[in-house]
Amino acid sequence: MHINQNKDNNKQTVKRVLVKMVKICCLGAGYVGGPTMAVIALKCPDVEVVVVDITSARINAWNSEQLPIYEPGLDDVVKESRGRNLFFSTDIEKHIGEADIVFVSVNTPTKTQGLGAGKAADLTYWESAARMIADVAKSDKIVVEKSTVPVKTAEAIEKILIHNSKGINFQILSNPEFLAEGTAIQDLFNPDRVLIGGRDTPEGKKAVQTLKEVYAHWVPEDRILTTNLWSAELSKLAANAFLAQRISSVNAISALCEATGANVSEVAYAVGKDARIGPKFLNASIGFGGSCFQKDILNLVYICECNGLPEVAQYWKSVIQINDYQKSRFVNRIVSSMFNTVANKKIAMLGFAFKKDTGDTRETPAIDVCNGLLGDKANICIYDPQVTQDQIERDLAMNKFDWDHPTHLQPTSPMAVKKQVTVSSDAYSATKDAHGVCIVTEWDEFKTLDFTRIYEGMQKPAFVFDGRNVVNPEKLRQIGFIVYSIGKPLDLWMKDMPAVA
Ligand SMILES: NC(=O)c1ccc[n+]([C@@H]2O[C@H](COP(=O)([O-])OP(=O)(O)OC[C@H]3O[C@@H](n4cnc5c(N)ncnc54)[C@H](O)[C@@H]3O)[C@@H](O)[C@H]2O)c1
Repeated sequence: MHINQNKDNNKQTVKRVLVKMVKICCLGAGYVGGPTMAVIALKCPDVEVVVVDITSARINAWNSEQLPIYEPGLDDVVKESRGRNLFFSTDIEKHIGEADIVFVSVNTPTKTQGLGAGKAADLTYWESAARMIADVAKSDKIVVEKSTVPVKTAEAIEKILIHNSKGINFQILSNPEFLAEGTAIQDLFNPDRVLIGGRDTPEGKKAVQTLKEVYAHWVPEDRILTTNLWSAELSKLAANAFLAQRISSVNAISALCEATGANVSEVAYAVGKDARIGPKFLNASIGFGGSCFQKDILNLVYICECNGLPEVAQYWKSVIQINDYQKSRFVNRIVSSMFNTVANKKIAMLGFAFKKDTGDTRETPAIDVCNGLLGDKANICIYDPQVTQDQIERDLAMNKFDWDHPTHLQPTSPMAVKKQVTVSSDAYSATKDAHGVCIVTEWDEFKTLDFTRIYEGMQKPAFVFDGRNVVNPEKLRQIGFIVYSIGKPLDLWMKDMPAVA
């Protein structure tokens, strides 16, 4: 009996071994590729996932104790699967060659030169990834667009692959990523939807089904949406444009609140109570940042222009214009409140990341605020719980759009370290002897700072400019601060002072 049972077990083992393990390779070990693949590996123990990258420092970091990106919950997810069915490697050719499904999650920067400069997506990295896949593939592959790309990119990639296919069958799918940094792991565990676009052919449908089965390991089937390729590509750009538009809408209202004495938090609450509008993404602030919103809207604007839709292009462009307006309005408030000059004054900047719970600084409004204040000759001391001094210096030395290239290819100016900028390891030393404090990231720890201690250490009059509405202005005024909070009734000090951009 015992022996027979063993035989049965052996048979089952053989059967399981004979079912080929699905192999996934992901090109690009960044903010999207790393966390997304870590979650796929965790949820699909029967799938082997290898994440590859041309930046070896990034791969080394993924293989170390200090992961290259900060994201709540990410460490645990990686540790659970790394070395089991999750691997990080620089051997790109080998792993593409072995994979059944190749995700492409590489940089898609905004073009800085030539046709469409300043708006269109630069698909250099995408195209070289596609050519590499075509070069090394020896078996059929499903190629999945994970990067955000302009509509019809899949068609271009398909052409590159097919023209170099050597008889290999490539199916292209669009599977845009909707995670938000700071909550990426939660979003990946429990997505509102997974979107898969594919060709409406038998091979296309089979490829969609294969990818669907991967996600179906943990995502309920009714949340896995399938569309044609172009709808999937456009849905990603449209979703980001809608989100950014909400932020610009509430920020536009914040300027009107300051002019009229209304309180933007009260207005946003009342507006958001309408079930048709809803409460999310209605916090007034210095504006949106991050690697996606501006880039994706510029991309959308360019596509509209190319399709002969200038009015639609202008509509979306205005979302970015209001965002820029909000950032310069904030800088102007600071300067005009401090006797119209911040020259040689110490301004403490609390936060640098583009939002809380991430160390990501791409397109962070902090850079514009810094540059605005530096233009007025301020001395700035920055504290952010997750952003390193090296990163801050790189960001302030970079030209617009240069951030969206692999780290080792990012051009930086020789003036990398600006003398007027220092970086501090905590909020109290950053604010010591400062004339003003500006809050640019909504880190939770800023809500519980001892502002009496901060006030005592500062020059007087002491100013707080809250670009994220994290502090209680009334409490700070009681301590003695002059306070500016975006969209809130103005401090008497600021009434009648010009603050328009
Ligand atoms: N960050 C987000 O929140 C987010 C969300 C959704 C979509 N996206 C999109 O996903 C894509 C990737 O974004 P990200 O934030 O992960 O960028 P990232 O810069 O963090 O990562 C991209 C990685 O790709 C690597 N790379 C470039 N060319 C390569 C190649 N040929 N082979 C292998 N690796 C290569 C780079 O070295 C880099 O590490 C972009 O298109 C972005 O717009 C980003």
